[in-house]
Amino acid sequence: MTERTGFGSKLGVILATAGSAVGLGNVWRFPYMAGENGGAVFIIIYLACVLLLGIPCMISEFIVGRHGQSNTARAYSKLSGGSPWKLVGYMGVLTGFLITGYYAVVTGWCLQYIWASFIGQLQGTPDYFKTYFAELSSDPVRPVLWTFVMLGIAYLIIEHGVRDGIEKASKMMMPTLFILLLIIVVASCMLPNAGKGIEFLFKPDMSKMTGDVFLSALGQSFYSLSIAMGCLCTYASYFSRYTNLTTSATQIAIIDSVVAILAGLMIFPAAFSVGVNPDSGPSLIFITLPNVFSQAFGAIPIVGYFVSLLFFVLLSLAGLTSLMSLHEVSTAFFQEEFTLSRKKAALIVTISTAIIGAFCSLSLGATDILVFGGKALFDWFDFITGQIFLPVVGFLTCIFIGWFVPHKVVREEFTNWGTLRSEWYARLFHIYLFLVKYICPMAILFIFLHQFGLLK
Ligand code: PHE
Repeated sequence: MTERTGFGSKLGVILATAGSAVGLGNVWRFPYMAGENGGAVFIIIYLACVLLLGIPCMISEFIVGRHGQSNTARAYSKLSGGSPWKLVGYMGVLTGFLITGYYAVVTGWCLQYIWASFIGQLQGTPDYFKTYFAELSSDPVRPVLWTFVMLGIAYLIIEHGVRDGIEKASKMMMPTLFILLLIIVVASCMLPNAGKGIEFLFKPDMSKMTGDVFLSALGQSFYSLSIAMGCLCTYASYFSRYTNLTTSATQIAIIDSVVAILAGLMIFPAAFSVGVNPDSGPSLIFITLPNVFSQAFGAIPIVGYFVSLLFFVLLSLAGLTSLMSLHEVSTAFFQEEFTLSRKKAALIVTISTAIIGAFCSLSLGATDILVFGGKALFDWFDFITGQIFLPVVGFLTCIFIGWFVPHKVVREEFTNWGTLRSEWYARLFHIYLFLVKYICPMAILFIFLHQFGLLK
């Protein structure tokens, strides 16, 4: 087997892993949920979920990955001494693999929108944008090709390895993403009536707080941090023995949350300045926002042109860094489990996920064969991975680390073999263990039962 090369620097670790976390979820769901569910109060609850549940789950995956120094399936297997717990690792890989295809479809749409902004097609009435998106997503050819292009780009990066591919690319893409985000936030907040949008996002409204909202915040925090998809575990297998897992997880969570909040400041001031009600999901970024940008900056069309173009470049970068991490989960698996070269493993993953992606894309209108049980194949993938596999893998990972792996091993990883020796780490370790043993699994169980209506 080829020698494993890990990340070359601390910054590389943070930017690559934050790249996995910062994705479409930060832009198309978080801001909307915050605005709809009590503004500042929601944001505080979300941050509490990230701190008390997201970060401990992230650290747990880091522990499995770094201890295993191998792909997710083998990492769970090593830590469990080959017991059935290894199946959780396999499930993590499968989750990552299945999401890669459909995530590539959505990021592929972003590429089409970059092109459309570039040639000045993203201007028109609200209905125009609706039709534009409906025609694109149900087209049998274009979105499939864009999916292939996106996976092709991911392949070219992944094939170069962890340090020369993923790390280098993340070091370029993440700062660019951040700068673009700041530019659009400033442009958006300078619009007339921008204050209303800011108020929508931050105005505390206790009356909107229900149990539902709490569980949604929890689910969103897990998705946003890329928990339970094999990504964090795989990336952690490239961490060095000096990587401080706790500070890394905290820094990554901070970056992810800041980007989510800034995304709100990018979207709402513009939406409210033209009196358009914000939405969530694909319709927010592919229908509502292009319309908002074209209207809000209508007075100076060139600004509208650039804001729209930059927005889709930003979105594509956010999507690509997440896609890379998903791709890497399966690439590492194929490379190590079947002793393949990295190139071959990456190619197998690219081709197989391209096929999945193509079917997912075709299920959105090009053919009826791929729609069953009232859902398109695309939505089935979303449902199975996000609502079933994610909570199951997350839950079992907490139980595994909290109850089955000897605490001595967990402590060794947590404290970098005793080198993080202060009182503070000893205390932190106890808090971490308590959260992972009791609180995290219970919270995940609640989300799981709640989404199937078993818990009201
Ligand atoms: N965290 C990403 C987002 O916010 C989604 C994602 C999930 C990416 C799992 C990779 C793995 O969009």
